[in-house]
Amino acid sequence: MDRREFFKRMGLIVAGSVALDLDAKANTMMSLSEGEIPEIAASSKIATKIPDMDAKLEKPVTVMIIGAGSRGRAYARYAEKFPQSMKVVGVADLNPNRRRAMAKKHNIPKENQFGDFHDALARPKLADAVVISTPDNLHYEPCMKAIELGYDVLLEKPVAPTEKECRAILKQAHKYNRIVAVCHVLRYAPYFVALKEVLDSGAIGDIVNIQHFEPIRYAHMAHSYVRGNWPLSKKTTPIILAKSCHDLDIVRWLIGKPCETIAAEGSLHLFRPENAPKGAPERCTDGCPHEAECPYSAIDIYERRKQHLGVFDLPRKDPALIREKLKTTNYGRCVFRCENDQCDHYVAIMKFQDGVTASFSMDAFTPWGGRRTRIMGTKGFIEGDMSTFTFYDFRSSHKSVWDQKVSEVAEYKDAGHGGGDHMLVRDFLRAVAAQDEKLLSSTIDVSIESHVMGFMAEKSRKSMKKVKI
Ligand SMILES: NC(=O)c1ccc[n+]([C@@H]2O[C@H](COP(=O)([O-])OP(=O)(O)OC[C@H]3O[C@@H](n4cnc5c(N)ncnc54)[C@H](O)[C@@H]3O)[C@@H](O)[C@H]2O)c1
Repeated sequence: MDRREFFKRMGLIVAGSVALDLDAKANTMMSLSEGEIPEIAASSKIATKIPDMDAKLEKPVTVMIIGAGSRGRAYARYAEKFPQSMKVVGVADLNPNRRRAMAKKHNIPKENQFGDFHDALARPKLADAVVISTPDNLHYEPCMKAIELGYDVLLEKPVAPTEKECRAILKQAHKYNRIVAVCHVLRYAPYFVALKEVLDSGAIGDIVNIQHFEPIRYAHMAHSYVRGNWPLSKKTTPIILAKSCHDLDIVRWLIGKPCETIAAEGSLHLFRPENAPKGAPERCTDGCPHEAECPYSAIDIYERRKQHLGVFDLPRKDPALIREKLKTTNYGRCVFRCENDQCDHYVAIMKFQDGVTASFSMDAFTPWGGRRTRIMGTKGFIEGDMSTFTFYDFRSSHKSVWDQKVSEVAEYKDAGHGGGDHMLVRDFLRAVAAQDEKLLSSTIDVSIESHVMGFMAEKSRKSMKKVKI
């Protein structure tokens, strides 16, 4: 869709020119005081078709899941919805309950059930593809081996904890001519697909600047980056990769030009021992005198609000079972007394080719998660919050809104990241079936580029210098 086509769809092109409501135009031409919002001449909906999630393959692509945790299960669910396009034929997970549950759900034969990924990959190739959804520091080894064995790979982000390993995976994929898709799921969410389509139409003119904000949400920060799976940057990856590689990738993708320099700042402001309130014990369950008012109370987050319970693999949301987990796992620890070093706020400034700029901000201290994005173009402006976005055309004072209710479409209901999780699987399966990586948006080649931006951001933050990419 080009700019002309975009306006045509919005009903704005009349006899070759952009149709304007003249009264409204006159209004907008009156001088506006600072902060005043110009009147909108007219508004319309941006109607993009919500894509069909079914890969519609002639025969299912067979897949082995390596790491049957939260992400492995999310991708395997696609096979439950569309068994004619995907079949899970193997599983590897150290956790016997997770392994058995996956095996039972997908009727996986005994000989294709493994504990350690090494055992699974010591066997000759047993499927068309593997999903690698082990922890961050266990992507590199299984990925290198799987490629060598001839598997196509759906690889969780971040690709690997170091730039060297990332580049080695890229090299390996080229050497063995295999498809490696990185789980940059946001690229596949209908919201971002529609946003990209509007940008590519040229409707906003040239992109000059992007402001992109990643609110983490206070309880999610405590759950994942203080108590949970990713508290230590050295053991996993720095938060700019562990959490925000999606965002660097989206900004790079939306701008469509290479990043040339990056400068970053950020630190761990709150979750430190010296900030523990007086008398706070090791665990929230040890009779903490601050439990009633602490926003990070594990009792409040897990037991009362029943949030983030997936990590416990509980048979039911029984308070006694939850309390037991809070007493025995890191999830019950005081947030000021964990072994953690991930930044709880992070900002980065990027310059792309042709002087295009972008600023990124990640913050733990928000009531909601998601993403907020503003895009400044030479002819228009877009503002979005990951469920709706609004495009303002400067010349016509016309406003168009994309607000399709993706979550209400039946097949999108259990597909995380605004549908992105399963749209990624769809494209991956199609790419594997056709042996054509062009059917994918997040190939290993483009994903490494945004990962390098993350590594350079961290280098800049630590060296307090702007870094060339
Ligand atoms: N794309 C996204 O939006 C997104 C979101 C969250 C997490 N992630 C990434 O996905 C990956 C998995 O995260 P998760 O939340 O599913 O974690 P998880 O802990 O729920 O799952 C990881 C699983 O790997 C298994 N495992 C560990 N070592 C193993 C080994 N040697 N052999 C076989 N299995 C092993 C664990 O037992 C566990 O079940 C991480 O790299 C994470 O950063 C991506």
